[in-house]
Amino acid sequence: MSGLSEIHARIRQSIATLPRLDIALKKTPLEEARNLSRVLGGPRIFVKRDDLTGVALGGNKLRNLEFRLAHAMKDEPDTVIVGLDLQSNSARQTVGACNKLGLRTILVLEGRRPDTIQGNLLVDYLLGAEVHFAADVTQQRAMLDRLAADVRAGGGRPHILNDNPMFDIASAVAYLEVTLEIVEQLDELGRAPACLYMSSSGKGQAGMILAQKLLDLRFAMHGVTATDEFHIPSRTATIANETSAAIGLGVTVDEKDVVNFDDFVGEGYGIPSEAGNEAVRLFARTEGIILDPIYTGKAAAGLVAHVREGRFANDDVVVFVHTGGTPAIFTWNELWL
Ligand SMILES: Cc1ncc(COP(=O)(O)O)c(C=O)c1O
Repeated sequence: MSGLSEIHARIRQSIATLPRLDIALKKTPLEEARNLSRVLGGPRIFVKRDDLTGVALGGNKLRNLEFRLAHAMKDEPDTVIVGLDLQSNSARQTVGACNKLGLRTILVLEGRRPDTIQGNLLVDYLLGAEVHFAADVTQQRAMLDRLAADVRAGGGRPHILNDNPMFDIASAVAYLEVTLEIVEQLDELGRAPACLYMSSSGKGQAGMILAQKLLDLRFAMHGVTATDEFHIPSRTATIANETSAAIGLGVTVDEKDVVNFDDFVGEGYGIPSEAGNEAVRLFARTEGIILDPIYTGKAAAGLVAHVREGRFANDDVVVFVHTGGTPAIFTWNELWL
């Protein structure tokens, strides 16, 4: 066994200590974006297509749901109840994953029912979720508990996914695994990554930083946040350390190890930005790759800005991790006309 595959096998053994279901399509393709590199006059750019994880239009939460739902299944639920945002990618993927497992899903989404149902919310209905709307998080919490009590009263077995302790660790483990896939896919081409970019509010990135620590490779990990609601470096380090302890990786992460750019958020979470929209158009028009204006477009704006600043040499390999979110292009249809 080569040095690379030995370390990878050891990490995979640690990951395998967690209960897991098979829900997502894996391993996702790593695609070279030659036109994009040419137009930017920059490094070799590869896109890790984690938007292609298969279920309900794919995205980064499906690998994570493999661990969270495996944990939930210990209680043999028949109904999963979850409270999330109105246009949540996570909600859509949760309903799709539960459908695969034969579980009923009840969503309690924060916000008002819009006049026109579009984007993720449209897919939630198509997937057959029972959808409720909550005015704010306090009402949302009360509704989760009331709906769970109703299911129980009807003889059912509810699982409130918000109370599942695995969310952070499951995301980190999922993206530790994605990093292994990326390194292996590049190794087959005789290359190694110089830098990875990913939309990150701290969970998936925690796993990629663990990979940085564990692998004998020097690559930079650039998270780009879509929200200014959290201090991402401290959150990322906390999740990385919880994950390292949970699966016995034996490494620690300090918040100084975390590189996360907060200068591409624009006006705020959930509001498209000019730079993000430009990046969405650029990926679409050079590569036929559809990003979204809320998460991946803003992360791609970071990559594009850094390439234009001349941060990379022409033969550097830069990987953009596409975490999904594409249904948002329909919610924001006017931006593309
Ligand atoms: C498309 C997309 N990318 C990135 C993220 C951020 O992922 P994380 O919370 O693992 O940092 C999300 C979170 O919802 C998302 O929907």
